[in-house]
Amino acid sequence: ETVQIIQQSLLSWYQNDHRDLPWRKNTDPYSIWVSEIMLQQTRVDTVIPYYERFMKQFPTIFDLAQATDEQVVKAWEGLGYYSRARNLHAAAKEVVGKYGGRVPDDLITISSLKGVGPYTAGAILSIAYNKKVPAVDGNVMRVFSRLFALTDDIASISTRKKMEKIAEHLIPDDAPGDFNQALMELGAMICTPTSPQCLFCPVQSVCNAYHQGIQEELPRKKKA
Ligand code: ADE
Repeated sequence: ETVQIIQQSLLSWYQNDHRDLPWRKNTDPYSIWVSEIMLQQTRVDTVIPYYERFMKQFPTIFDLAQATDEQVVKAWEGLGYYSRARNLHAAAKEVVGKYGGRVPDDLITISSLKGVGPYTAGAILSIAYNKKVPAVDGNVMRVFSRLFALTDDIASISTRKKMEKIAEHLIPDDAPGDFNQALMELGAMICTPTSPQCLFCPVQSVCNAYHQGIQEELPRKKKA
C-alpha cells in the first residue's frame, strides 16, 4: 500500500544515504533545538561551522542560560536574523528556570517558548523525543506537492495545515524523527526546487507529479 511504500522507501534511503551532519551525531534535545533555529533561515553549509563553535562554547542549555547577551550575539555574528539568537537565549533561561533545564517534550509547552513555531516544535519533538509530530517546512511542502500532485498555493496557511495532516498520516510509529529528517533530506538532495533528480528518487514509483511529468511545475505559489 502507498503509505507503507513511502515509509519504507524513504527510511531505507535516508538510513543509507543521509549526509553526516554535526547535529545528527546525537538526539540531545538542546542540540537539536540549536541546529533547527540556525537552519530556519540559513543554508546547511553556512550553519555547520557556526553550529560546531556554538556547541563548543555552550555545550549544555545551562551554559547558554548563564551566558551574557553579548556572548550569545557574538557567537551568532555572521548568521544574521539576530532575533533568533535573542529568542533562543531567552527560551534557554526559561527552560532552566521553569523546567530544571529539561526541554519540554509536549507540543503545547514547547510551542510556548520564544522562537519555537510549529516547524521547530515538530522537528525537536520528532528528532529528539521520537514523537509523531509533523515538521513541515518549505522542503517538505515541495516534496508533498509533487508526491501527491497538489496544486494548492504553498504560501497559504490552509495549505500548510493540509500538509501537516498528510504528514501525520505518513509518519511511521517506530521512526518519526528519521522519517521527518528523510523528508527534509529528500527536499534538499533530490526533490530540489529546480531540476529535481527524479531518476535517483526513492519514491519515484509512487510520485504523482513524476508520472504526470509536472514535477517542475510544482509546488504552486500564487503571486501576491
Ligand atoms: N533543515 C532543517 N532542519 C534540518 C535538518 N535537521 N537537517 C538538514 N536540513 C535541515
